[in-house]
Amino acid sequence: MTAATARAHPNIALVKYWGKRDEQLMLPAAGSLSLTLDAFATTTTVELRGEERDAFTLNGAAATEGQTERVTAFLELVRQWAGASEHAVVRSVNLAPTGAGLASSASGFAALALAASAAYGLELEPRDLSRLARRGSGSACRSIVPELAIWHAGIDDASSFAEPIAGPAMAMVIVTIDGSTKAVSSREAMRRTIATSPYYPGWVSSTERTLAEMAVACGAGDFTRVGELTEVSALRMHASIQAAEPPLRYLRAASVAVFDAAEQMRAEGLEAYATADAGPNVVLVCRPEDAAAVAARVEGLGQVRVVGAGPGAALVEEPVEPVEPAPDAGVPA
Ligand code: PMV
Repeated sequence: MTAATARAHPNIALVKYWGKRDEQLMLPAAGSLSLTLDAFATTTTVELRGEERDAFTLNGAAATEGQTERVTAFLELVRQWAGASEHAVVRSVNLAPTGAGLASSASGFAALALAASAAYGLELEPRDLSRLARRGSGSACRSIVPELAIWHAGIDDASSFAEPIAGPAMAMVIVTIDGSTKAVSSREAMRRTIATSPYYPGWVSSTERTLAEMAVACGAGDFTRVGELTEVSALRMHASIQAAEPPLRYLRAASVAVFDAAEQMRAEGLEAYATADAGPNVVLVCRPEDAAAVAARVEGLGQVRVVGAGPGAALVEEPVEPVEPAPDAGVPA
């Protein structure tokens, strides 16, 4: 039996990724930049033990059919890369608190990419591991990388990957407004934005410029500029999404209140900048030494958690143990 276990963390984009140029290869329409977090890890064990089909358990229970299909499709790709045919048993534990509004697909596919590639005997360079993770979920390619990651959009499979970029020290204050699952998946919402939003071309062209400016600000260690560009990128992404038809609107009144709070803090000399993914929850970016003060200022606006910059995906020694009796979550491969 061959087995490997890997751990990865979610990331929050400062320059957002929204929209694919190639759905099959998961090539994004534009590049993006993110901070990998030091909390809410996913740990995944992949075991090859001659099963007839792949099986996937998440937090000790059989995963849904949809989740298992996505994992199986990803394992097919790993098997192609490895020239292998053996099926796998995958056990995953995700520490993102239910309702934190933190998408687990980035940490999930980053951990799975590393554990599966190791179990199938592939020894991948970080760049190739990032390319592999990208195929599971676009943003997962950034969770391979520690701390700040820049995802180069690339022009083909070989050139679309994330790598580290130096920048100022940062912390994030996560304000959870509503933890329920999204009604429309990001994949579907991206398609709708591309197909119907008149602002989508503007989003793509402006993101290339924002990313170039962000890379300069990171290189200069300019926290203020990084923060300003972070908020601009988030608001432009939401503007292009909101212009889709039928409309998609992720920000609620309570989300906007957090953006207002950030503006107010800045007016008073406390630097915090707001961003939000495809959901109502808002994340404030600040200097690590300001995190406690920023958190205190948004205490009443949602559930508040302070997180920092975290490590890239890594192999670990402690496997995720099966829960007995072993659930049979397999689908025919
Ligand atoms: O990789 P996905 O399909 O989870 O898309 C992520 C999209 C956003 O979270 C909204 C933005 C981003 O860059 O993470």
